[in-house]
Amino acid sequence: MIKLLTIVGARPQIIKAAALSRAIKNSFQTRIREFILHTGQHYDQNMSQVFFDELGIPEPDFNLNVGSASHGVQTARMIEGIEERLLDLKPDFLVVYGDTNSTLAGAVAASKIHIPIVHIEAGLRSFNKTMPEEINRIMCDHASTMLFSPTLTGLKNLQNEGFRLNSEPPFTSDNPAIFHCGDVMYDNSLFFAQLADLKSSIMEQNQLKPGQFVLGTIHRDNNTDDPKRLTAIFEALIRISEISGLEVFLPLHPRTSKIMERNLNSNLLQKIRSNAHLKISQPVSFLDIIKLEKNAMIIMTDSGGVQKESYFFRKPCIILRPETEWVEIVKNGTAIIADADKDRILNAFAYFEERPDLDFPPEFGDGEAGEFICEQIIRAFNGV
Ligand code: UD1
Ligand code: UDP
Repeated sequence: MIKLLTIVGARPQIIKAAALSRAIKNSFQTRIREFILHTGQHYDQNMSQVFFDELGIPEPDFNLNVGSASHGVQTARMIEGIEERLLDLKPDFLVVYGDTNSTLAGAVAASKIHIPIVHIEAGLRSFNKTMPEEINRIMCDHASTMLFSPTLTGLKNLQNEGFRLNSEPPFTSDNPAIFHCGDVMYDNSLFFAQLADLKSSIMEQNQLKPGQFVLGTIHRDNNTDDPKRLTAIFEALIRISEISGLEVFLPLHPRTSKIMERNLNSNLLQKIRSNAHLKISQPVSFLDIIKLEKNAMIIMTDSGGVQKESYFFRKPCIILRPETEWVEIVKNGTAIIADADKDRILNAFAYFEERPDLDFPPEFGDGEAGEFICEQIIRAFNGV
């Protein structure tokens, strides 16, 4: 039996982990035993537990409860806790997702005690090292033994950094294997889409009508922590709600709700509060967000996951960042990078409001990335 220790911590990782846990449960139970460690990076009910409850992920075997802190303190606490559990459990592989501090901590802890790292969502690059995520993902990739990239662009990025395709087993961190496997988030979006229609009442709860609202999410630190950027985004959202006749629905990450009071002036805050068409809510569950994404007219976001989901559900997306790792969706013309620039956001909105003919060719696999990853882990374990 192969023993995996999966690290989760932040919301998107819990969601991503659902795909692998489901594949193990459905097809590989006799070969793979998964243990889950939650670092506690996200801890509010609606940022963590709701996903375990809704997506059928086994409860974590360990929770480090590290909570929020500066990058150094938070990551250091995680490394210490993860190392302790690794020494105890002695898993055959450590599985990490994406690019958060929880990912980096897992990679640092495991690599120093020679536990092979499986990095899911490897190879993504923004080419912007001021992003904490860019540092996390580069460092994790270069400590990993098996790297699973959701896109061909990710695979190419890895090759450009010296990783070789078709390396021969046995795989090690000095002889890593890279794979193009599709996106575990696509697996999940396909799997949960129908259930979202059946179970979610988020549209009714907020009086939203299909095709008649804009869905937005904002949480990236360079947007929340910079008053100019946060102001530009909110001014654009207010303008859109005034000129378009559409509702704007914003399930806000706690980082953003907490910092708005400080980083927006009182005049703008007043305008936000008194605007009946700008609806700000708590973060919503995965089934709720999928329901919203399926029914929105346009999606505006700085989230990596929400950008891709806009594509999965064939919706135009305005990217509130200076660049994206998901270059395919921009190349295909279904997403526009508008950064935190009011005019660029409004121009992109005006373009998509005209309902241009958009094409969403498949870019993110076949919905079975989780199964593929399990098969490759088993092969690597057996040295074939
Ligand atoms: C983290 C990731 C980011 C990812 C995001 C997903 C890093 C460096 N960043 O950013 O890549 O896109 O998660 O959502 O790992 N907070 C709460 N309750 C919670 C969690 C956070 O109130 O349950 C607040 C705290 O004030 C905290 C702030 O949000 O200080 C930021 O949380 P943190 O986990 O440090 O970073 P995120 O912005 O969530
Ligand atoms: N998400 C959610 N509820 C919300 C906002 C986002 O379930 O209120 C989901 C979203 O659908 C996606 C994931 O969280 O699957 C993305 O996480 P986030 O935006 O926090 O981080 P990122 O992907 O940018 O790292």
